[in-house]
Amino acid sequence: MVGELHALVQRTIEQRAVYQDAAEKFGTPQYLIEADLLRHQVARFQAAFAATKQTVRTYYAFKANPTLPILKLVRASGLLADVSSGLELSAALALDFEQIVFSGPGKTDDELTLAIAHADRVVIHVDSFAEVTRLNELASRAGVVMRAGIRLNTAAHGLWTKFGIPLKDLPQFIQLAHGLDHVRLEGVQFHLSWNRQSAGYVETLKTLGPILAAHRPKSGWRFVDIGGGFYPEDDEAAYPWVANGQIAPAEGPPLDWDMSYDLPKVAPIESMAADVVATFRDVIRDVPELWVEPGRYIANPAVHVMLRVVDVKGDALAITDGGTNLLGWERLELEHTPLINLTRPSAKQIRFMVYGSLCTPHDVWGYTCYAEDIRPGDLLITPAHGSYVQTLAQRFIKPVCQTILLETSGSTSRVATAETARDRYPELFPTPVG
Ligand SMILES: Cc1ncc(COP(=O)(O)O)c(C=O)c1O
Repeated sequence: MVGELHALVQRTIEQRAVYQDAAEKFGTPQYLIEADLLRHQVARFQAAFAATKQTVRTYYAFKANPTLPILKLVRASGLLADVSSGLELSAALALDFEQIVFSGPGKTDDELTLAIAHADRVVIHVDSFAEVTRLNELASRAGVVMRAGIRLNTAAHGLWTKFGIPLKDLPQFIQLAHGLDHVRLEGVQFHLSWNRQSAGYVETLKTLGPILAAHRPKSGWRFVDIGGGFYPEDDEAAYPWVANGQIAPAEGPPLDWDMSYDLPKVAPIESMAADVVATFRDVIRDVPELWVEPGRYIANPAVHVMLRVVDVKGDALAITDGGTNLLGWERLELEHTPLINLTRPSAKQIRFMVYGSLCTPHDVWGYTCYAEDIRPGDLLITPAHGSYVQTLAQRFIKPVCQTILLETSGSTSRVATAETARDRYPELFPTPVG
């Protein structure tokens, strides 16, 4: 339980001099990208799949964190790009990613046209019968043959109904695609979120095996893309009262809470890769390539949020200079990630309500802190917020803060500045004419 996040806390405390330096140089709040952690995560993921000797192509899911330094590091580490909008596609093209997959429901004509203009580098995962027909028309106008995969819907229930085409419609889809001269079907894609164990991938591959063997496009299948959803090992834990289905009231956790939480067991990426590839070889016939689209696994450990305590009220309530608009939602009211006082660190938690400075009680950074104590001016850090945080950050009351890059050499640089009042309210600051 606590033991596993303990390694993350320990490492963060050991590194505290470099974090303090970045906070002193650039101020707080800040997102701090730690380049080495990102490289390490990419290398470990790549090595896990390379060890299987299977041909695997790894596409980084931009949606997890498309901050420019992250994209540059990912590109330099040799990953390919997984994009889900024209915006992300433009970024992947501008950064010269060699191979790009473009998936997502509701692609517009403009987005498809952009992909078609770069048919040498882009594979489109088509999401519906109507989309493949539209893609064929647009590609035909451009005089190109577009490579495509089929986004499969492997869980056609509830909110997941919106994605892809149901497995049962695959034969009909292939038949339709056979009649389209400007789309070449090469593979299939599915995606399952939050896989802490390999079972979801394994089961889905087993279901797919016989279907893909029975129904093939003219030139055969080239790839099966199993999407993202690989879980990093140091991630959030659940509060017991939330796990019990009882949502935290605005007054905070129960008074008798013993500062414990549930940290679900996550299989190491090496065993996930070994399981997935063993199943792929076992049940998928005559498909040479396995594709993967990790986002969270790559980006999450590499970005931390640093805050300074502005005010302390009573015995155990602190207010910091950054609001949870920086996370995008009231995440830490429901999920625990470690919060560490770098000024007065401790390997043990103390009970302390730590808030941001937004005008809402739901602006919670944590109910505990790894600290001896918390006083005004202290520097706090919450590590491993690299995925679905910078992308979800909101312009609510406070600006979205600056981003700092920490390089291997210990050097730091500001790579994106915080919003100013002029950015937020341009109409109040008209540019003088003439
Ligand atoms: C199609 C697809 N691929 C990859 C990802 C990335 O998932 P994760 O960040 O969990 O690895 C997602 C996330 O929603 C997705 O929908």
